[in-house]
Amino acid sequence: MNAILFDPSLSDDARREQLYKGQLFVYSPSPSSRELCAFGREMIEDAFGSLDPRDAQHSLPVQDYVAILTKLKPAFIHHPRSKQLLQGILEELGCDLSKTYFDVPRMRSATHGGYLTSGIAYAFHPHRDTWYSAPPSQINWWLPIYEIEPNNALAFHPRYWNEPVRNGSGDYNYDEWTRTGRQTAAQQIKTDIRKQPKPEEPIELDPQIRLITGAGGILLFSGSQLHSTVPNTSGHTRFSIDFRTVHIEDVRGKKGAPNIDSACTGTTLRDYLRGTDLQHIPEDVVLEYDTPPQRTTELASHL
Ligand SMILES: [Fe+2]
Repeated sequence: MNAILFDPSLSDDARREQLYKGQLFVYSPSPSSRELCAFGREMIEDAFGSLDPRDAQHSLPVQDYVAILTKLKPAFIHHPRSKQLLQGILEELGCDLSKTYFDVPRMRSATHGGYLTSGIAYAFHPHRDTWYSAPPSQINWWLPIYEIEPNNALAFHPRYWNEPVRNGSGDYNYDEWTRTGRQTAAQQIKTDIRKQPKPEEPIELDPQIRLITGAGGILLFSGSQLHSTVPNTSGHTRFSIDFRTVHIEDVRGKKGAPNIDSACTGTTLRDYLRGTDLQHIPEDVVLEYDTPPQRTTELASHL
């Protein structure tokens, strides 16, 4: 990777090609991204009542805070309005909705300090989404719901685009995770005991890139990009939205970013919905990616 493109006038095909080479994209807020963030803010502000959501962590016991997020996040994820606005964003940014599949938009929160960094508000260590059974053609979309600053942002670690990291992805299978891990998220308040693929060697976090946009600005990056949650020292909770897309022709053609160190099994492809009519990816296509859970030592052995 060597470039960050701001509001480029590229076709979606050309953009995906660049994303698979590790380039990062930043877009100014679009009408639908503004609206999606406004919708998120509305739900957040309803959930926290009279408290300012960005500062509520300073006056709420952590259990009460978790209880609010445990209701709020799924309500946003599964609300039909969230999907509609997501489809609007894809259209406004030039995606062909009949060939673009997306997974539901997630709402994330990153609290200031060590208040809550596990379970329902997991603070992501450096990782590639492709360690979590994402296909190599996965593209991540990330939007801040409120203004962000460098000390409550998302970080990219560009040197690792080409450099393999020894990691625990060989023990990760997406089906096993969805059966056991996700359901217990709300119970993981102090520490997170769910098994996540992590780097198994020291990571040099710097140099790193933190892209700061206004609320509703859009970051696009490949799921193979090494990224992490910046430890939040801003004094406020950060709320953001993210979702993923794949283009069906790239999935069928096994295109995408090169896999340099992922050994996970299974696939997230069954979660994706077609941009036009919310149909799933045909099962014969998914099966091409659905490898059974077993430790693959081939990749790990030469890292
Ligand atoms: Fe991620």
